[in-house]
Amino acid sequence: MRDNYPIKTICCIGAGYVGGPTMAVIAKKCPHIKVIVTDINEERIKNWNNKNLERLPVYEPGLDKIIMACRNENLFFTTQVENSIKEADMIFISVNTPTKTRGIGAGMASDLNWVETSTRQVARFAKDHTIVIEKSTLPVRTAETIKQILVSSESQSGSENTKTFSVLSNPEFLAEGSAINDLENPDRVLIGGDDDVAIKSLTNIYKCWVKEEKIITTNLWSSELSKLTANAFLAQRISSINSISAICEKTGANIHEVSKAVGLDKRIGNKFISPSPGFGGSCFKKDILNLIYLCKYYGLEEVAEYWNQVLSINNWNRNRISRIIVDKLFGTISNKKLAIFGFSFKANTNDTRESSAIQICKNLIEEGATLAIYDPKVNEDQIARDLNQKPKVNFNKSEILSGEWYFCSTPEEAAKRCDAIIILTEWQEFNNLNWSKLSVLMRKPSWLFDTRNIANYNLAEKYGMKVWRLGSENQ
Ligand code: UDX
Repeated sequence: MRDNYPIKTICCIGAGYVGGPTMAVIAKKCPHIKVIVTDINEERIKNWNNKNLERLPVYEPGLDKIIMACRNENLFFTTQVENSIKEADMIFISVNTPTKTRGIGAGMASDLNWVETSTRQVARFAKDHTIVIEKSTLPVRTAETIKQILVSSESQSGSENTKTFSVLSNPEFLAEGSAINDLENPDRVLIGGDDDVAIKSLTNIYKCWVKEEKIITTNLWSSELSKLTANAFLAQRISSINSISAICEKTGANIHEVSKAVGLDKRIGNKFISPSPGFGGSCFKKDILNLIYLCKYYGLEEVAEYWNQVLSINNWNRNRISRIIVDKLFGTISNKKLAIFGFSFKANTNDTRESSAIQICKNLIEEGATLAIYDPKVNEDQIARDLNQKPKVNFNKSEILSGEWYFCSTPEEAAKRCDAIIILTEWQEFNNLNWSKLSVLMRKPSWLFDTRNIANYNLAEKYGMKVWRLGSENQ
């Protein structure tokens, strides 16, 4: 019995937000290992290989430096899935798993099509012994499916070429925008599985930069369920604080004072209790939906309903903010122009998946407003896809528009002749907006709606703006 599978080459299937940064960090920390990242999307691979690092498909602080140092040294990006699988001793499956839109579990369960397709490719092309690692966010017991597909392709004993597999779960806990730091300094690394030798091989990789006591091992199901639970707990904190924000606005309490007072209790802690327009991102909603689906599957209706409330409050909060904006602007925003500051689901990322900005902007457009949208990293095409509406272009600036949107490259351009500025993402630059300049560009009475409590509202008020802040007593 061997006590370690030597790992010379790692392959990652899926060059997205998880696969790209994770493999970059492994390549940086393990220069003795060749890391190949594959994806069927040619455009994406081309961008990972682009000399212009501004074009990398994922924006993460610190990622460009690693790519510059490791690319074509021990880190490779390719569409050649077959050869990459053949060469690899260890394969990470890091493909996307969107929520199913039809069939059984529609709107709740994850679509495992890409996981299954990738696993079948691994089953077909892998050679010798291969450790296959589930890295995508997945419903509990997916590893079992992966195992079944792989085991059925294992070579029978006695055959000439041996082909065998070990399956592990190694959920990612990285948050976008701080992915490199999260990967380099993780709170914990979780490895689930029952093959001690494979676990040791993966542990040895992480040990190149993570202290051994932070690497914990569990059975497969615990590992998968821990990932869903961690995200469900985090999302629950945000729904909790957002529900309290609404009470603050009614009673005259201040959410920041409440949040600080509550967070100082060590048992609660001060992280993830900042009020916001609602949580977004690719994981929280999807993971909670997976949890709900799992509960329903096992007949745990009350538990399903409990977690469903975390999602309901999130949606309610977005609609609540949209309603407040309409109310404050004299009950109608039809033919009014509103500047949207920030479209990504949080700062330091160009990702807009499940961003609260999408729902809020759709609500405002539906009410007849025209939106001038500015985000430091999100581009026009992405916003058009998210809003399901093309931007208005080449129009006369004095033309009266209704239910349209257009893209702006600076906050000033967006603020021009608008009735309100609505901050939806906590980009650092919104901390230091030039209110003396912005306020004169706007129509009077001009409003600031700050859903992230990031702007210097005293200054905005000084320049004659009316201010509404989430979770505070407001005018
Ligand atoms: C999350 C988890 O943090 C990560 O561990 C997991 O692996 C993937 O999902 P991510 O989606 O990148 O990461 O973003 P995160 O920083 O967790 O923020 C999620 C959402 O919550 C954002 O929309 C953010 O603005 C919001 N949020 C966060 C709040 O509204 N209030 C807070 O206090 C913190």
